[in-house]
Amino acid sequence: MSFRLQPQPISRPNRCQLFGPGSRPELFEKMTGSAADVINLDLEDSVAPNDKDEARRNVIAAIGDVDWGDKTLSVRINGLDSPYWYRDVVDLLEQAGDRLDQIMIPKAGNAADIYAVDALVSSVEAAKGRTRPLKFEVIIESAAGIAHVEEIAAASPRLVAMSLGAADFAASMGMQTTGIGGTQENYYMHRDGQKYWADPWHWAQAAIVAACRTHGVLPVDGPFGDFSDEDGFRAQALRSATLGMVGKWAIHPKQVALANEIFTPSEAAVTEAREILVAMEEAKAAGQGAAVYKGRLVDIASIKQAEVIVKQAEMIANRGK
Ligand code: COA
Ligand code: MG
Repeated sequence: MSFRLQPQPISRPNRCQLFGPGSRPELFEKMTGSAADVINLDLEDSVAPNDKDEARRNVIAAIGDVDWGDKTLSVRINGLDSPYWYRDVVDLLEQAGDRLDQIMIPKAGNAADIYAVDALVSSVEAAKGRTRPLKFEVIIESAAGIAHVEEIAAASPRLVAMSLGAADFAASMGMQTTGIGGTQENYYMHRDGQKYWADPWHWAQAAIVAACRTHGVLPVDGPFGDFSDEDGFRAQALRSATLGMVGKWAIHPKQVALANEIFTPSEAAVTEAREILVAMEEAKAAGQGAAVYKGRLVDIASIKQAEVIVKQAEMIANRGK
């Protein structure tokens, strides 16, 4: 136990982050017309090296020109190991309007990476008189990133969200797979002639959730590459939600409704959570710390679990109000 209270993350729906390459501006209107809570315009790995400058210009123009409604608007900048990232930050902050809510820093390896971007952002912000501080989100997608996940989560007051990037993570870890998330053919337990598939992403996800919850950052599941496999996406997203993640990326519009469905608490779950809160109120009034709800124990920890679900549902219901 600690006497310190767990900090609350930013209060906003983050069920689905829809990505689109900055080099395909014809997608931007479709992206804002989608049901995603967060829009991620990409300058990094979905943009070829020769297209970097044009993609940056497209994105800067679109931040001002497109009506992004009540969406959280984020731009994924290039990695700190590239020759592009400083120009991404400087041009975005000098030329794009205040509508940009946050930037996503890919391949974060340690707290100093975030500190370096923070220093540059803070300087340009001060020079330009930006009044609304730009927020950060990061991707954990390397061995160094997961090894330093907690210091990264604590690295900047600008940091609001952290995602697992399965493809680069697998490559950096030397994992023998080319799949982006989901079940991996060779990751199974074996018993009595049967295979039982296990989850190779579980440890990294749980480590991210723990680091995020410790420092008040939203934990998000990254991409699921096979956008034709709805059942696979659903299974992956349900596991992430069960572990405490609040949302998932969509790399194709087909995945938006699925993510929203899974990361919106179901009516049955919300009703049950409210009933547990009532049962605990009654127990408290009777001087009890524990009660029986539908034949099972509920206690003071159950209040906190139920409150997570009710709070999430209320925040989603209030979206755009
Ligand atoms: N956002 C919004 N709309 C999109 C979209 C996106 N990311 N990707 C495709 N669409 C639109 C298409 O324009 C098309 O619209 P239409 O019906 O009006 O013609 C419709 O959705 C179906 O698209 P489809 O033909 O199946 O896809 P595609 O071949 O054009 O593109 C991808 C497929 C995967 C290349 C594309 O979805 C994409 O670039 N995704 C994001 C990749 C990315 O940003 N990666 C970085 C993070 S991992
Ligand atoms: Mg990546």
